[in-house]
Amino acid sequence: MLTTAEISSLRRRLLAWYASNRRRLPWRETRDPYRIWVSEVMLQQTQVKTALPYYRRFIREFPTLRKLAEADLGDVLKRWEGLGYYARARNLHRAAGMLAAGSGGRVPDRWDEFRALPGVGDYIAAAVLSIAFDRPHAVADGNVKRVLARLRMITVPVNRTASHPVFQAEADRLLDRRRPGDFNQALMELGALVCTPASPHCARCPLIRCCGAKQSETVARY
Ligand code: ADE
Repeated sequence: MLTTAEISSLRRRLLAWYASNRRRLPWRETRDPYRIWVSEVMLQQTQVKTALPYYRRFIREFPTLRKLAEADLGDVLKRWEGLGYYARARNLHRAAGMLAAGSGGRVPDRWDEFRALPGVGDYIAAAVLSIAFDRPHAVADGNVKRVLARLRMITVPVNRTASHPVFQAEADRLLDRRRPGDFNQALMELGALVCTPASPHCARCPLIRCCGAKQSETVARY
């Protein structure tokens, strides 16, 4: 078990690492919830490098929720061409239409309302609400689960639906509720850049001292 002091120190080191190591990405230069939403929808099934040019073109063509809502679905799908998982684009367009018609074109800042929109699952809801509105929801995507598995020596399989609650509970517990958006992105970024699936870069990890797997030299097992 981690003590409260250990959890505080973990948060501090992770956030400090993120501040100086995060990639400069266009969706990190904005607090516009619509733009953050678009980025998270793209990133849910696509790597940052691949998503980047699509994101730029998409935002150039549909700079606001209202512009997206007014666009033809065919044009939206054309901008999505090559990214795959087209249901993501259809749902985003449909959700934009619903919000433009009902909420004055604003992205909801409350869980129940946002989570109820087409295409918005637990991951998207937690990511957008934390990053855009500082709401205290923890994300547990694939990268985060791998980091948590190693850090806390969680042996249930990372990629099984049945394991999800274990990782979600751990992410909830560690979440820095004062900076949930940065904390979530820091864990995802650590998983993408340092705590990678094969041959992780432990020497560069800000959490090496509290990593259960590293301390027991069992990183490869997770
Ligand atoms: N993967 C999905 N969303 C991300 C984000 N905001 N930062 C880093 N990696 C991500």
